[in-house]
Amino acid sequence: MNQSLNPAVSCRGLRKQYWMGGQPVHALRGVDLEIAERQMVLLSGPSGCGKTTLISIIAGVLDADDGDCQIRGRSWAAARPAERTRRRGVEIGFVFQSFQLIAALTAVENVSLPLLLNGAGRRDAEKRAAAMLHRVGLGDRLNNLPKQLSGGQQQRVAIARALVHDPQIIVCDEPTSALDAENGRLVMQLLRELVTSDGKTLIVVTHDSRVFGFADRIVTLNDGQIVADQVQTPVENPS
Ligand SMILES: Nc1ncnc2c1ncn2[C@@H]1O[C@H](COP(=O)(O)OP(=O)(O)OP(=O)(O)O)[C@@H](O)[C@H]1O
Ligand SMILES: [Mg+2]
Repeated sequence: MNQSLNPAVSCRGLRKQYWMGGQPVHALRGVDLEIAERQMVLLSGPSGCGKTTLISIIAGVLDADDGDCQIRGRSWAAARPAERTRRRGVEIGFVFQSFQLIAALTAVENVSLPLLLNGAGRRDAEKRAAAMLHRVGLGDRLNNLPKQLSGGQQQRVAIARALVHDPQIIVCDEPTSALDAENGRLVMQLLRELVTSDGKTLIVVTHDSRVFGFADRIVTLNDGQIVADQVQTPVENPS
């Protein structure tokens, strides 16, 4: 199969419900979403509308109850567990809403992890991790533990960890929520560059209107459904 003919992401009829105290919570109520390669898509909408649920299914870390999600023409549902784990580790970068750094590991060790899991040697992994930390402006914090970093610095470590293994598809859950204006712009410029120069595909969940101008497309969710889908010309340096 020629993967270049496939969209980066193709979701069809996604449904997901959770159970809380015996009651169903309908997080996704039939979502269709297609994202071309080299697009930067912002996913917006009120708290609880299903954004994290949707990107978790796209990233292969959560199963939908119904519907299908394909990454470059290959379905998550059809993949066996070992294949799924391997694909997640190679194809996907995930910046979690709550950072999910490992408290006992330094910044450079946290960022090295995806490379070590993919079979890299420690020295090589730490060299690449250090280079990525430099890129997010943390070259002078390599050996700090998460608790020795500010919230915004921890967020940038989480971003470096999502990018270090050079994944084709990058999913970010509120990547600028803990960042001040300057660091927020630095991170968004880096993410934009990954799309424009490196040909990556990005899906960024955000409430932060400062970052809207960086995107090619803004998709709005409400109560588990897509209610707006707007294509725009990105501005490289929105003020
Ligand atoms: N593990 C869970 N168990 C039960 N309900 C859940 C669970 N995870 C999410 N939900 C519910 O599903 C709905 C969608 O949640 P989700 O986390 O996808 O929303 P969100 O758009 O990312 O919100 P936020 O902007 O606050 O991060 C919400 O009503 C939430 O309470
Ligand atoms: Mg969320």
